[in-house]
Amino acid sequence: MKRREILTAAMTTGGAIAGLTLGTGTATAAPAAGRPPAAPGLAKKDTLAFAAGSEIRIGTALSGAWAPETSPYLQEGPYRDIAGGEFTSLTAENHMKWQPLRPDRDTFDFTEADSMMDFAAANGQVARGHTLLWHSQNPDWLEEGSFSAEELRAILREHIETVVGRYAGRIHQWDVANEIFHEDGALRAQENLWIRELGIGIVAEAFHWARAADPQAQLFFNDYNVDGINPKSDAYHALIQDLLADGVPVDGFSTQGHLSTRYGFPGDLAENLQRFADLGLRTAITELDVRMDLPDGAAPTEEQLAQQAEYYRRATEAALAVEGCESLTVWGFTDAYSWVPDTFPGEGAATLLDEEYRRKPAYYAVRGGERPRRPSRPDALTH
Ligand code: XIL
Repeated sequence: MKRREILTAAMTTGGAIAGLTLGTGTATAAPAAGRPPAAPGLAKKDTLAFAAGSEIRIGTALSGAWAPETSPYLQEGPYRDIAGGEFTSLTAENHMKWQPLRPDRDTFDFTEADSMMDFAAANGQVARGHTLLWHSQNPDWLEEGSFSAEELRAILREHIETVVGRYAGRIHQWDVANEIFHEDGALRAQENLWIRELGIGIVAEAFHWARAADPQAQLFFNDYNVDGINPKSDAYHALIQDLLADGVPVDGFSTQGHLSTRYGFPGDLAENLQRFADLGLRTAITELDVRMDLPDGAAPTEEQLAQQAEYYRRATEAALAVEGCESLTVWGFTDAYSWVPDTFPGEGAATLLDEEYRRKPAYYAVRGGERPRRPSRPDALTH
């Protein structure tokens, strides 16, 4: 069965037959150490992981990174069970960014990142590494330090060698460079300290250093607002061709997929990913969420939830339609821990599950299969 048929099959069969045909064991997550196994056997068929089978990694960002006591995967049973059982890939929402990893120039603090990697291993999951060269969430000592160009280059090289090397063989895909272009396709030449101080050549070097540190990991460019064909995604398309011609080890291009029901769905998503696939690259959707307007803290209406589900369904369909698109990651799975309300005031409810971990229509849209309805009861049983 071809990739694109999987979820369609899942949709008509409730996921069970498609899963049984295609599941090759990637979904059978082992329980995390020190706790009893999740509900055994058939219960596992009722998951995104089972529906995805071995055709595509279904991932989530894992919340946390600042301290164990604020990390829900360490503190909250339902969060932990869903993160471990519904997904086959994890991305650190923050744990592997410079800020938490590098409290100062001479220190690497791997406490939180290691803890996430242990959680992934205990659950039989792969991980996406995020991220190495970015303009945001860098520590002050780095952004405000007065380093020479040579020092900065050495700092980045040491960082990549140390971090990528530490997790070598355990990271499926690394977002080596994140968000290096503006919307009009111009480089973020001022905001991004690496490019500002060292020029665009540093990007190629970062890919080479990452490849040397972990030859197995697929190395990606990652950005937002590159779902469709536009000046920003065009800029990546042009840059990556140049880099490939120069022998730079770029393996993939990914779109984050931070969508909003305010705007239309990017109908050329599959077409856009396909033009990168045509360059010989892997592609991925790495941070999918679909936010909606919720003025004054209103609850989402049924229409809003249905519209959101349609965006998730179309994004999933696009990922399945493109050969070499091997991972679809949501940016958090519960509205209780989504970055959206803090970042986009007045918007929210962007994820697959509500704040009480109840499955929303969006969940079923990704997994396929009808939303279960209470069976109508014969009159005789109604009283
Ligand atoms: C966000 C996290 O979700 C927040 O917790 C954090 O405060 C800011 O960063 N693009 C990316 C992600 O590549 O790393 C961002 O994550 C969201 C946008």
